[in-house]
Amino acid sequence: SKPPLILGIDTSCDDTGVGLVALEDGGPRVLANAVYSQSVHRSYGGVMPELASREHVERIRPTLDAALEEAGVRLQDVTLVAATRGPGLVGALLVGLTYAKGLAQGLGVPFRAVHHLEGHIAAAAAEGEPLEYPHLALVVSGGHTHLFDVHGPGDYRLVGATRDDAAGEAFDKVARLIGLGYPGGPAISRAAENGDASAVELPRPLQGQKGFDFSFSGLKTAALLAHRAGARPEDLAAAFQARAVEALVTTTRRAAVALERRAIVVSGGVAANRALREAFADTARRYRLEVRFPPGRLNTDNGAMIALSALRFLHDSASDADFEADAEAYLP
Ligand code: KG4
Ligand code: ZN
Repeated sequence: SKPPLILGIDTSCDDTGVGLVALEDGGPRVLANAVYSQSVHRSYGGVMPELASREHVERIRPTLDAALEEAGVRLQDVTLVAATRGPGLVGALLVGLTYAKGLAQGLGVPFRAVHHLEGHIAAAAAEGEPLEYPHLALVVSGGHTHLFDVHGPGDYRLVGATRDDAAGEAFDKVARLIGLGYPGGPAISRAAENGDASAVELPRPLQGQKGFDFSFSGLKTAALLAHRAGARPEDLAAAFQARAVEALVTTTRRAAVALERRAIVVSGGVAANRALREAFADTARRYRLEVRFPPGRLNTDNGAMIALSALRFLHDSASDADFEADAEAYLP
């Protein structure tokens, strides 16, 4: 029989992602990770759902071809096809899901539907020794801020989540507020390099809570008020980033200590943030924790992470051909 080769597709938002993962003796290997990032949304300052769907339709085939070329394999070598079923923009999801089902049917191989957050979590465990179970997984993206306790492949238990805005959403909104453009995360991070966090007083959200939730909307409102009061954009960016990072790291660390978990994976678009990585690395040293981030190109939305999370289906002959796109899909 053919060696395992998984094709993963993600079209949950504004990136068309197609990845290829092979299972080799040493473990999984990402052979290709082709991502087409839609730029049409830039002038709107946010993602336009209708435009996103249309761009996915146009870009999915060229992105697939790019992935096959990058991996040096043929479509006929694929043994399993996986795609994101949600959450995300329903019209965008439908494009990738339908395309993937069609490919699987044409190739005569199984199709599996994957939860988008599971993809982000799998990305962080893509390289290195397999992680011990249970471990914590913090997913911080434009749409999610979720802390999971991971008991095994596919076995996720929610420990905490944002009560309002997602972390990335807050970065995006604050960036827009102070005129830094979209996407806001990288822009805030750059501006913060030239800012003084102590020059602006911002609140510590949910300080003193016993649980492991997050909240960013109060921080965002405080940033708006400071902006109106004349704070320098760079200082505001630095202060906001410092508070957001502090909340993410402190709450995750408290959960690790309370649940006695030694390993944490951090993923999603915001996991690209340098200040966040440094703060987690520092906490890891002080509390003797192992903290893992996805390798660079697997941080933001991509197809390889969907292929990686479908590895657990390789020894299972079921198919998800009846799965529909689910804009509000829940994990677990
Ligand atoms: O995971 P992702 O690519 O898409 C979603 O599933 O949402 O995450 C995108 C989010 C955006 O909100 C973006 O501003 C944020 O990740 N982001 C960052 C950084 N790079 C991307 N936030 C903070 N710092 C960054 N360097
Ligand atoms: Zn994502």
